[in-house]
Amino acid sequence: MNSGRTGRHAGPLVIAIDGPAASGKGTLARRLALHYGLPHLDTGLLYRAVALTLIDAGTDLDDGGAAARAAGALSAERLSDPRLRERAMGEAASRVSSVPEVRAALLSWQRKFAEGAQGAVLDGRDIGTVVCPGAPVKLFITAAPEERARRRHLELLGRGEETTLAAILADIRARDARDSSRAAAPLKAAEDAVVLDTTELDADAAFAQAVAIAERLKAA
Ligand code: C5P
Repeated sequence: MNSGRTGRHAGPLVIAIDGPAASGKGTLARRLALHYGLPHLDTGLLYRAVALTLIDAGTDLDDGGAAARAAGALSAERLSDPRLRERAMGEAASRVSSVPEVRAALLSWQRKFAEGAQGAVLDGRDIGTVVCPGAPVKLFITAAPEERARRRHLELLGRGEETTLAAILADIRARDARDSSRAAAPLKAAEDAVVLDTTELDADAAFAQAVAIAERLKAA
């Protein structure tokens, strides 16, 4: 295993990974964190946890004030709730994530994580553009919507969630449109991010390419 401090980059290493739903960024982020011995934060879980708090309280997901309060009061224990991984929660998270006060409350949480002495790997939608704009390694992971839907379908079937490929593709297109068009921190690649298209890559090939890119950016 390589050390996170090899190469010309000095100090704690922060790796920012962004991309649309089911692009493979979560798997890549976990593997990069393991490879470099860094803590990892899946920032989508924060937005999912805010949505789950509202759902559990019977509050409308479009109640921006309630969403902002839930984001401000979020506790780390909430992030391990298995319901956060359910398909409906991705859609619900996408709705609360367009509220600027929700994003502001979660920003300080994410920055604190990234500023730890060890460095960190964070994955989400706005890590390279807003949360960690100074990260030396920025990756934007993408793949064709049909391929992302196929992967997510397999993953959900594996977890016993009944669903169809067509429904997932529709979800993915709706989430892409909402995440890319919102005014607050929309999904987009940072200008200095390297784009990695995983449509034709399996998980190992994508990981090998991501490490090669990270090594190059670290040494730049
Ligand atoms: O990555 P994941 O699918 O878990 O994210 C769920 C939703 O949370 C996304 O569709 C997006 O709307 C929102 N999100 C965000 N910014 C992040 C991470 C997730 O807006 N950094």
